[in-house]
Amino acid sequence: MMTIDILSVLPELLESPFSHSILKRARDKGLLEIRVHHLRQWAVNEYGQVDDYQYGGGAGMVMMPEPLAAAIESLSKERPYDEIIYLTPDGRRLEQRIANGLSLKGNLLLICGHYKGIDERIRDRYVTMELSIGDYVLSGGELAAAVLVDAIGRLIPGVLNDETSALFDSFQDDLLAPPVYTRPAEWRGMTVPDILLSGDPRKIEDWRHEQSLQRTRDRRPDLLKGE
Ligand code: ADE
Repeated sequence: MMTIDILSVLPELLESPFSHSILKRARDKGLLEIRVHHLRQWAVNEYGQVDDYQYGGGAGMVMMPEPLAAAIESLSKERPYDEIIYLTPDGRRLEQRIANGLSLKGNLLLICGHYKGIDERIRDRYVTMELSIGDYVLSGGELAAAVLVDAIGRLIPGVLNDETSALFDSFQDDLLAPPVYTRPAEWRGMTVPDILLSGDPRKIEDWRHEQSLQRTRDRRPDLLKGE
């Protein structure tokens, strides 16, 4: 059983993403536990303060160290974390390889930043991994955390019905996935490639591989160069 704890000032944002489809199944099957914690529980005062002005001046608030430290320490007592991950646009770019690795871990703690981010000392002291989901800025780490949990959750052994299906996803072998078709074989004058109707598994496999290669060359040549 994998457990993922998430620290957030906007836990409402994280209710729906984990309550449907594959992640719901993972939770229902007892393969994945997700707990969202409101950082305000560890606020420094009765007003629920968790952020403050930044030293040196400049617009935007910074999340204070003490509430985060208290939260991390209190949660760590319940379960030791394999990784404490801060979602941030200046983190390492998330890719399939990283999701694969994380899906094999036991306990993860995700920290969602807001405003200008979190006090640097929390990153220095507690955070073991910093991830970005892409080169654009979101208004908070919650949606990035949802993306990360989804990418990890579907890889946990036993979560997908057809256990092999994640192996053929785009990126698992540095290739994009081939095109797919379903019924009807002819739709509005457009047909399905004959080979897929041939019933010859070897030929179909070769065709799919060729299509993957071609699609990757056309759209993402960087993947083939191993960049
Ligand atoms: N927080 C804000 N923007 C983000 C991004 N692109 N990735 C991860 N966390 C973020």
